[in-house]
Amino acid sequence: MNPYAIRTHNLSKEYNGENILKKLNLQLERGRIHAIIGPSGVGKSVLLRLLNLLEEPTSGEIYFDGRALRENERLKLQRRMTLVFQKPVLFNTSVYENVAYGLRVRGENRRSIAEKVKKALEVVGLKDYEHKGARNLSGGEKQRVAIARAMVLAPEILFLDEPTSDLDPRNVAIIEELVKYINREFKTTIVLATHNMFQARRLAHQASFLFEGRIIESGNAREIFTSPKDRRILRFIEGKIIF
Ligand SMILES: Nc1ncnc2c1ncn2[C@@H]1O[C@H](COP(=O)(O)OP(=O)(O)O)[C@@H](O)[C@H]1O
Ligand SMILES: [Mg+2]
Repeated sequence: MNPYAIRTHNLSKEYNGENILKKLNLQLERGRIHAIIGPSGVGKSVLLRLLNLLEEPTSGEIYFDGRALRENERLKLQRRMTLVFQKPVLFNTSVYENVAYGLRVRGENRRSIAEKVKKALEVVGLKDYEHKGARNLSGGEKQRVAIARAMVLAPEILFLDEPTSDLDPRNVAIIEELVKYINREFKTTIVLATHNMFQARRLAHQASFLFEGRIIESGNAREIFTSPKDRRILRFIEGKIIF
């Protein structure tokens, strides 16, 4: 089996003639946690939308399991991936219904849905929340519902777009533990976009630094954080560049 869940070749994205992402060559190993690190506005969310096939690149290719994307497989591929947004968008119904939604769309039977929803809510620590209104929860709880909703779909690849940036330290810690747990327990490949270097350091096996539209360094997270080759990363680690 190809070791890379996703690989990109010269992946580029323009909006209105402006080059946001410039010829990115990424290699995302299966079963690992990858951090995409970069300052606000650099294009992390755009990159996740491209990888998740929600948007088309201007040029370049994406390979899944070593194979170029085929149009007739787009839906099948999309079903193997899930994206959790920075600000969770929940329906104005119960926690249970929110988590069950994707499974209903996929036509699963009631009993299987109930089992999966229950298990996912247990994992995210919201066991007794089934009947609560999703919109009334705290920010951290909402994000955990969003993660449970992603988890029930058992994605092979889970994209997390700055999942903790609006949360208090306690919820940040809960969600970070959860991310590690999901990766360990289900071998899910996780792609985490963050401007928070410390979070990337706590969670990631591999890291890619995005700066001015390019990947300035990519590889083993421990190596990059302890001895980066690019001086801008060093300055960032030393706190002289604020991302
Ligand atoms: N749909 C869009 N149309 C035009 N410009 C966009 C669109 N989406 C993102 N951009 C621009 O792309 C750049 C990168 O945005 P984004 O990926 O949201 O940054 P990040 O997630 O790293 O903070 C920004 O300048 C943003 O304005
Ligand atoms: Mg973003």
